[in-house]
Amino acid sequence: MGARSENVFTHPCYEAGTPQIVPVGEVKKDVGLFQLFGKESIVGIDIGSSCIKAVEVEPSGSGWRLANAGIQVTPLDSCRDGVITNPLDVSQAIKALLRSVNIRGQGAIAAVSGSQVIVRQVQFPRMNEASLRKSIRFEASKYISASMDDSVVEFHILGNTEDGEVMNVMLVAAPRDMVESRVSVLEMAGLEPIAVDVEAFALIHSLSDYSSDDDFRKGAVALIDMGASHTDVNIVTNGDFALTRNIPIAGDSFTNAIKSLTGFAFQDAEKLKFEMTLQDSLEQLSSQEAENKCWRVVQPLLDELLREVRRSIHYYQSQFPEGTEQATVKKIVLAGGAARMPGMAAYVSNKLNVPVDIAEVFNDSLISPGRFTSDFTEEYGPVLAIATGLALKDEAGVVSELPMAA
Ligand SMILES: Nc1ncnc2c1ncn2[C@@H]1O[C@H](COP(=O)(O)OP(=O)(O)OP(=O)(O)O)[C@@H](O)[C@H]1O
Ligand SMILES: [Mg+2]
Repeated sequence: MGARSENVFTHPCYEAGTPQIVPVGEVKKDVGLFQLFGKESIVGIDIGSSCIKAVEVEPSGSGWRLANAGIQVTPLDSCRDGVITNPLDVSQAIKALLRSVNIRGQGAIAAVSGSQVIVRQVQFPRMNEASLRKSIRFEASKYISASMDDSVVEFHILGNTEDGEVMNVMLVAAPRDMVESRVSVLEMAGLEPIAVDVEAFALIHSLSDYSSDDDFRKGAVALIDMGASHTDVNIVTNGDFALTRNIPIAGDSFTNAIKSLTGFAFQDAEKLKFEMTLQDSLEQLSSQEAENKCWRVVQPLLDELLREVRRSIHYYQSQFPEGTEQATVKKIVLAGGAARMPGMAAYVSNKLNVPVDIAEVFNDSLISPGRFTSDFTEEYGPVLAIATGLALKDEAGVVSELPMAA
């Protein structure tokens, strides 16, 4: 990308109509509850290739309340294929972001994602956790093609199979440099890294675990994060993680297509992409005889992305007998920046023939918007979903976290 501003919420996609962020001063803490948990609030830091998001939540009654949130442009070319290639610049951007939105928490959690991150349910011989921990590298090597020495591996025992002969295990593995680069960036930003999680789990955490919507607890729902460099399809069945798949088509693909069409710099092509839907939403554009040149180059990519999404859903559904509750993905929930394109939900629903909602992290959920307006949560909620899941991370049943010094 071209020159990027240092200020919070100044990414071109967040310029128009950005609601005023009220300076919060000291974050008021419910001391009793914090003492009960014995820890300070945790900052969720989602380091995307395009934007860094930070979220802090605080206890509120029986749930949580959004305390602070901010978005900062990721420094140019500092995050490639999920690896942070310029830790110094990224840590400074995080520092600036935390300062601007007055986030004071020290403990922080970041996440990894991408095609090199493996999350799979596998079957291992029955054994207790301590024995599996000793043999995890050997067992995992049957499922992971990457070198075990260069990978961080974690697992969670889900329980024995019905016949009791083997046990189901959630296996998670990520390249060591991907995990370690996040740890060092958090440290360099003056934070205390508590864990590195997987983006898919964080998204499920904020959108499904904390939702009051029963749809998440019965049957299958697809949570789709449309970012800049990749789109993640995550399927949740009866409230539990079922599948995650990474598709390398997202917001940047659309911008690059416009860049090739016009010969403009990336940043200018990005502006054209936002302008493309200013007058007509995606649905309107697609129903017109395509006069909009940008849409003509973006639409084939979006359609290709949606074909891949459909393939993932079909793959998931094919594992269950037809007619069973799990065999139908009954709803799609969209998160991430690219999901903010006007008309995206209607367009996706039309193509995939499944009802589609835009993620509402702070609505109908145990996480209240606190002092933030509904305009704010509507506009930024879908983008803050992962960071929010990370901030909530240590309070509920998360599947796994990657050890930072394995
Ligand atoms: N209103 C909008 N119209 C079109 N695109 C948008 C809009 N708002 C945001 N985007 C796009 O969303 C993307 C940024 O989303 P997000 O912050 O979720 O990505 P990221 O987390 O940095 O990327 P990744 O996770 O893929 O590394 C950019 O491609 C941006 O152009
Ligand atoms: Mg992202």
